[in-house]
Amino acid sequence: MSKKAITLMMTAGLVLSAAPHSVLADPPAVNENADQAFDNKIIKKISPDRLYDRVDLLSKAPREAGTQGEYDAVQYIKGEFESYGLDTELQPFTFQEWDGGSSSLMVNGSTFTDDVHSFNGSVNGSVEAAIEYVGLATTEEIPDSIKGKIALVERGSIPFYDKVQNVLDKGAAGVIMFNGPGQAGSHFGYTYEGQDIPAVAITREAGLSLVEQLQSEEVIANLTVEGAGTIDKTSYNVIATKKPHKNKDTGQIINIGAHHDSVANGPGANDDASGVSGVLELAKIMANTPTDTELRFITFGAEEKGLVGSYHYASTLSQNEVDRTAAHFQMDMIGSRDAGDLIMFTPDGNKNLVTDLGASAGARVAEVVEYGKLGRSDHVPFFERGIPAALFIHAPLEPWYHSPDDTIDKISKEKLTEVTKIVGAAVYQIARPDTPALERARVAPGPVHYEFDDRPL
Ligand code: BES
Ligand code: ZN
Repeated sequence: MSKKAITLMMTAGLVLSAAPHSVLADPPAVNENADQAFDNKIIKKISPDRLYDRVDLLSKAPREAGTQGEYDAVQYIKGEFESYGLDTELQPFTFQEWDGGSSSLMVNGSTFTDDVHSFNGSVNGSVEAAIEYVGLATTEEIPDSIKGKIALVERGSIPFYDKVQNVLDKGAAGVIMFNGPGQAGSHFGYTYEGQDIPAVAITREAGLSLVEQLQSEEVIANLTVEGAGTIDKTSYNVIATKKPHKNKDTGQIINIGAHHDSVANGPGANDDASGVSGVLELAKIMANTPTDTELRFITFGAEEKGLVGSYHYASTLSQNEVDRTAAHFQMDMIGSRDAGDLIMFTPDGNKNLVTDLGASAGARVAEVVEYGKLGRSDHVPFFERGIPAALFIHAPLEPWYHSPDDTIDKISKEKLTEVTKIVGAAVYQIARPDTPALERARVAPGPVHYEFDDRPL
């Protein structure tokens, strides 16, 4: 039997029960050595310094979707892909964001000095009326006398929706809500469709002083919310394609993804400049490596706004492309020195082709990787279209998650390198020209046992 035939059988997960000659005496070892030789074609080229330097460059400033910071990152990523010789495309899309406009409050004729912020969803408008304190605004607490007045409400116990609806039902003309015990600031609160009432948030201290003032005098307030509403913003996906070898095309596609946007107040070194750097490193190496599979290297925008970019991209795929997409690998938060071990998450908690390939590649280049159940990243829209997809991430999370302290000094070159190697080896297991096309639902190569891990985040 040829070496190729053995590889094919192992790739399909077939068990060799008889060993006709010595080459087959220990099939997993034969397969492992062959696979490891192929792994080396990718993983030996991975540069820890390049991986780290890209994270450094990307995490100098926040990359919130729809801002100049994101756009600069997008241009950098596009330039990198192009410099590797890959066909690269920017895919713009719009998403909606709430703009709170400006809010003001006059109390008994003087300007209220504390911060005032409109609720997300608040209508614009100006109301002049007496303030009445209605506690937590449960139905029992609200007196009929609230009609035509501005309700002063404490945050907590019941949802924003119920508080606003309860005062609306009794005819209130406006809402001022102060923060709950131990909660800082005045940036909170939602009104929902049909709750057409100006609503603002203030700090707990400011709210309690109004409650006190109401005990000794009538308080007339002038509450104004103006310029609030949704605005359209533009974000981008960056898509680089590596075509298969012309004479050796299985017709299959593999995606390797990360998200380039960060939260507004953080530089997102780990979340997810780390994953972007992993995608760029594999793109650079694989651009010059013959494959029989089309590779799509994609960085998504507006992940932090609700997976907007990946949902957009997945919605643009034809059914034919979906059918041909064998696997989606998502790298998100792959480099924190302070996070736990690598885990592969699927939205339904089931193994799939991606986790099979990842566990098997892990066993060859580092250690067997476990899997668990989680959405919360760009693998979800692909999973929902029926594509085997998994998120590669470390858990438990680092304490700097979504904070201004998610900076380059917390990034480990070793962690970045290990995850990139595992994903690279897993991708190449299908993409290399000597292995056959894998049906989407079929199990991956290698008799590796890996466990479900219900790991806390
Ligand atoms: N990198 C995180 C995903 C994540 C966070 C996975 C924690 C596992 C544990 C991602 O960028 C993120 O923050 N996602 C959002 C969800 C999204 C729908 C806005 C989240 O988890 O809050
Ligand atoms: Zn993320």
